[in-house]
Amino acid sequence: MKFREWVKSRAEREGSRIILALDLHIEDREVLLEKSLKMLRALSNHICAVKINRHLTLPLGLFTGVVKLVEAAHSVGLPAIMDCKLNDIGSTNLAIASNYFDAEFDALTVSPYVGWEKGLDSVFQLAQEKDKGVIPVIYLSHPGASKSFELKVLDPLTGETKPQYLYFAEMAREWNADGVVVGATRPEKIAAVRKAIGGEIPIYSPGVGFQGGRAEDALKSGADYLIVGRSIITAKDPVVAAEQLKNHRH
Ligand code: XMP
Repeated sequence: MKFREWVKSRAEREGSRIILALDLHIEDREVLLEKSLKMLRALSNHICAVKINRHLTLPLGLFTGVVKLVEAAHSVGLPAIMDCKLNDIGSTNLAIASNYFDAEFDALTVSPYVGWEKGLDSVFQLAQEKDKGVIPVIYLSHPGASKSFELKVLDPLTGETKPQYLYFAEMAREWNADGVVVGATRPEKIAAVRKAIGGEIPIYSPGVGFQGGRAEDALKSGADYLIVGRSIITAKDPVVAAEQLKNHRH
């Protein structure tokens, strides 16, 4: 099944729009892997995908540890997203993406700052050949993001001036991205991106809870999925925290 449909069908099945950011911090690497596997299994009926970041790829290694988490996700029917925010020239992006896809990741995040030609074109092509997803980050969730994503830029093709993030949203639509990331901390930007990309491309929204974003505001503004890490994984009872969050609706 294609990535986009997989997340959607899992979300419908579990009644959950939560994507678990599995960002555990434990010094002992064996314990880190063990606890990550345990957390993933315990939450599997309350989430629609799992997202992995450098919190795990750096200490565990891609083919030595993280691949086991991807396998575990698949064994319980969950897609796995690598949050690598690809941000280099095309040949390097392609080498990085190939490794993540070889480790069986189903989708990865990319930075649209790189642009298309010899930037992200080969990554989108590889993803299409392998039925994988590519998700550009349109507006990061942290406070300092406004200093770059909000800049007014001149579209070289139309001569029009617009905020950087809306230019990125249009690029994502043109590239037929499998989703876009817009922080839950700025629901008004989610609404603006939804308007710019139309109804087909899902919006993934991190920043709920710990970063100050509210699930209901993000969903009401047009987000399809909530990426949640610390509010679940550091909760006294992660399952209860996930259950509470999953009950938010549009
Ligand atoms: P928390 O603990 O804040 O974790 O719920 C969020 C997870 O998502 C990542 N993150 C982002 N990823 N765009 C992204 O692509 C963002 O704006 C963004 N904000 C947070 C973060 O690294 C962590 O894994």
